[in-house]
Amino acid sequence: MSDLFEPYTLRSLTIPNRVWMAPMCQYSADTTGPDTGAPNDWHFAHLAARASGGTGLILVEATAVSPEGRISPADLGIWNDTQVAAFRRITDFITSQGSIPGIQIAHAGRKASTDLPWQGGAPLGPGAGGWQTLAPSAVPFAETDPLPAELTVDEIQEIVGQFAAAARRAREAGFQVVEVHGAHGYLIGEFLSPHSNHRTDAYGGSFENRARFALEVVDAVRAEWPEDLPVFFRVSATDWLDEGGWTADDTVRLADELLAHGVDLLDVSSGGNAPRVRIPAGPGYQVPFAARVKAETRLPVAAVGLITEPEQAEKIVTNGEADAVLLGRELLRDPSWARRAARELGGTVFVPQQYHRS
Ligand SMILES: Cc1cc2nc3c(=O)[nH]c(=O)nc-3n(C[C@H](O)[C@H](O)[C@H](O)COP(=O)(O)O)c2cc1C
Repeated sequence: MSDLFEPYTLRSLTIPNRVWMAPMCQYSADTTGPDTGAPNDWHFAHLAARASGGTGLILVEATAVSPEGRISPADLGIWNDTQVAAFRRITDFITSQGSIPGIQIAHAGRKASTDLPWQGGAPLGPGAGGWQTLAPSAVPFAETDPLPAELTVDEIQEIVGQFAAAARRAREAGFQVVEVHGAHGYLIGEFLSPHSNHRTDAYGGSFENRARFALEVVDAVRAEWPEDLPVFFRVSATDWLDEGGWTADDTVRLADELLAHGVDLLDVSSGGNAPRVRIPAGPGYQVPFAARVKAETRLPVAAVGLITEPEQAEKIVTNGEADAVLLGRELLRDPSWARRAARELGGTVFVPQQYHRS
């Protein structure tokens, strides 16, 4: 028996195993015309392969709640009905493979409006297909980046509404899990961290004030999302700054708040809000952050980051460090990782009938 391949139930949703696909931007949507931001054949093939590979839950990449919320012009979006219809084809297929379709909804804040990573990823000015970026404070990510515009309270409320609308559309598109992207120095993470949030109003200063936007988004998403389906939140457990940043203690405190606001699982990542920090990356390097939330709160957690080996993943779940693991790059290398791991660990996974002879 394998703990990794035990089903996991949140609210009334049962996820068939604890091997989940981490959200990964593909930067492959149309950038102009009516299909801007809609998933296409690339997204279908990419997500379908991991679903038929036995992955229990597929979290679709950071999908923007508004055009300004995209990291690049080629990001996926979920702000119109054309996008909803295109996602429907993907969620139907994921479901047909016994997997659960989930989506990460996001606003990139001051890290929006950049070129594709394989074209260098530099900030794109308005003349080059980019747009004015938005942030809690007019402080750029890197000193050389264009200045983001400081959001007014009305604009903050508008973005809360965009997250709510995105959640409603995600449900219409057939998703069964919605994840709010609060990590990696994007808009919600920018509000959380004193490193990027220098506001002096109700959205800045104290922990409560910096967490206000995140919790308003969660409340708005929860209000749109069915009672019987789970909401996830991805956090960066630390900015990896020696001082003046978001810390693991803050993460534990936030986890309690998120639980009280109806979040069902914390997806524990790290970093992304400050350039040039030293990150001690190595196998499972973020697992201790997840394990701490698991030990000190009642909020379920998923661990992510350099989890690549079946035995390693199994131990994380068996030891109670996390309720599930998310795999990113290893699933890019091997879409059938879950099936391979199940064979190694003695678990069972869905195998498409077309592949039974394998
Ligand atoms: C190509 C690529 C795209 C990514 N896009 C996202 C994203 O859209 N949202 C997010 O929260 N993390 C994103 N990440 C981070 C992954 O979700 C994951 O946390 C990270 O890759 C560490 O896990 P791994 O070591 O298993 O790859 C991305 C990572 C990669 C490699």
